[in-house]
Amino acid sequence: MELLTFRLSMVACCMALLGHVTVSQRSTIQHQDFISWDDLSVEKYTRTMDAVDGDASRVILVSKDGTGDSTTVQGAVDMIPDGNKERVKILINPGVYREKVIVPKTKPFISFIGNQSSETVISFHLRASDRYSNGQNVGTFDSATVAVESDYFCANGITFENTAPAAQPGEEGMQAVALRLTGDKAMIYRCRILGSQDTLFDHYGRHYFYDCYIQGSIDFIFGSARSLYQACTLHAVAETYGAVAASQRNSPLDNSGFSFLECRLNGTGLLYLGRAWGRYARVVYSYCQLEGIILPEGWNDWGDPSRKSTVYFGQFNCKGDGANLQGRVSWARSLTYLEAKPFMNRGYIDGELWLRL
Ligand SMILES: *[C@@H]1O[C@H](CO)[C@@H](O)[C@H](O)[C@H]1NC(C)=O
Ligand SMILES: *[C@@H]1O[C@H](CO)[C@@H](O)[C@H](O)[C@H]1NC(C)=O
Repeated sequence: MELLTFRLSMVACCMALLGHVTVSQRSTIQHQDFISWDDLSVEKYTRTMDAVDGDASRVILVSKDGTGDSTTVQGAVDMIPDGNKERVKILINPGVYREKVIVPKTKPFISFIGNQSSETVISFHLRASDRYSNGQNVGTFDSATVAVESDYFCANGITFENTAPAAQPGEEGMQAVALRLTGDKAMIYRCRILGSQDTLFDHYGRHYFYDCYIQGSIDFIFGSARSLYQACTLHAVAETYGAVAASQRNSPLDNSGFSFLECRLNGTGLLYLGRAWGRYARVVYSYCQLEGIILPEGWNDWGDPSRKSTVYFGQFNCKGDGANLQGRVSWARSLTYLEAKPFMNRGYIDGELWLRL
């Protein structure tokens, strides 16, 4: 715990330092191929994309009271042209926006930015088993409250929520996604992602979650993305059994998988750290604080014993009652520093190619 606290305060200190540097160098040319702190905040709001050449901070204001450019988040996304090539920041005033939002593949470089003064929530309630008026099932994929299909997406200070009720044991079709990320190179910072079953569909691409709060019950982080979760709080709301991460890595050549670094895990239920949704599922926890809600065996083979030899499930230097390795399945890995190292920094998601933080 002491070590964790120390590491977290180190991070906070360095961030403050970096934030400073960014501010004083704001006039330098923007590099669209990198995400920087500048893409995660709005310094000054100038109305409706009155973009001057070289001004990278084009801002669209969303406000429920009609004083902005749009009263809905989707309305703001719709204002951005297909083939967008510059960072556009959508500043969303506090409030609860009850809508389903899609950021299409044709619109990269979009930021969703909340206002620190109060919570900005995007909330919907679809479940996989719900039916459209034509009788078709919604399905897990389309249950997402917010779906991002474009590259270089950023979010700061937003709560993504799916309010569908929790599944009772044995109940099917209760997957209810709050956020789906299908694009490459996304950074999610200080956001809350709230739901129950299948909360965060971390679908495809390389993603960096930093200082986020993620709540769910079963497989609440799932998909085929390659993601680093750093200094995040993972909060379980399982009534009985649950699982944190379901990685759908399907081949040894697939470089997807989830790395949890300096995260805290607590809440209710009895949780698996991960389940082998994909035959080559890969999940690693390093320097995490795991409270006593983890099942001693730790990991689950998704009912297919042959996956025990192909998955990569490990932990390194975790603390807390849930971190004890004694009762773990025999195929769980207790990683050495050298084995854990590739998972413990932004290099895991090729950060040097697209993050400038
Ligand atoms: C945040 O909200 C406060 C209060 O409504 C407002 O004064 C402030 O300008 C907002 N900040 C931004 C960056 O829009
Ligand atoms: C974990 O959650 C339990 C139950 O809510 C609470 O009593 C405990 O203090 C929490 N532990 C930490 C370290 O936050």
